[in-house]
Amino acid sequence: MAVIENSKLAIVGAGAVGTSLAYAALLRGTAREVSLYDINREKVNAEILDLAHGTAFTGASRIRGGSDLDVVNGANVVVITAGAKQHPGQSRLDLAGDNVEILRNLMPALVERAPEAVFMLVTNPCDVLTVAAQRFGELPPNRVLSSGTVLDTSRLRWLIAERAGVATSSVHAMIVGEHGDSEFALWSQARIGPIPIGEWPVADGVPFARPELDRIADDVVHAAYRVIAGKGATNYAIGVSGARIVEAILRDEHAILPVSSILDGYRGVSGVALSVPTVVDSSGVSEVLEVPFDEEESERFRASAVVVRRTIESLGL
Ligand code: LAC
Repeated sequence: MAVIENSKLAIVGAGAVGTSLAYAALLRGTAREVSLYDINREKVNAEILDLAHGTAFTGASRIRGGSDLDVVNGANVVVITAGAKQHPGQSRLDLAGDNVEILRNLMPALVERAPEAVFMLVTNPCDVLTVAAQRFGELPPNRVLSSGTVLDTSRLRWLIAERAGVATSSVHAMIVGEHGDSEFALWSQARIGPIPIGEWPVADGVPFARPELDRIADDVVHAAYRVIAGKGATNYAIGVSGARIVEAILRDEHAILPVSSILDGYRGVSGVALSVPTVVDSSGVSEVLEVPFDEEESERFRASAVVVRRTIESLGL
């Protein structure tokens, strides 16, 4: 893809997620400059070198960065991946206290250096941290979002595509709510091509019955736990999901993605960040779309809001 002139993506945190996002951005030509920051000088400089050594074969992007926070100066998008990560058996919400404290000092320093940037939280719990980042950075709510359930939606689409025997790009389905255990699939809106998923004639002639859909949704909710149990972290899929969202911002795409942002009266929910279908453009969150939920989905959305709000309130945010 053509690189957007003078576009700068800054990534805070050179761990598995931050470096995977940087690598995905270079491969996809997400930004003219990718700047990687980490407090660990030796680590971040080695990661930058390793990424730079492959740029003969990637797009026309430049990889820069270091351990001085000034490397984020003037960024159009700042992605935050730094913080404690889930260990086997830990939920994302278990990380809230430590990671909110990291943001408390980090956000003002980042906003001072990139005052016009759109900020994206990847660090978990990303919904709670979106609220914290907006508060600590004193930013307009539309300029703070998180990767939310974009990754979970990609997992869902892949699982359905595998079962239906079609390309993932032909599966239109979405996970919404918390990026966490209370997330759920918007089955009422799910389609394979133009066909509602409940009417899709799978190989054995039985359409996707509810038990099959529930199994698929359960696989999505537990996907990260399975990967973390096996390799210690998730990084590739979140990296490329993050790069995709950054592109929607840098290219002013007006793309509809289930990013998480602070809701203001959405189905009665305010002051909580949750993922719902959202128009993403150069302003960040351009419009949060009211989509029809069936009765069960409305109840699950309310339950997800309660879970995230409880954590936000427990931290005094
Ligand atoms: C996952 C992490 C990014 O779902 O929360 O893989």
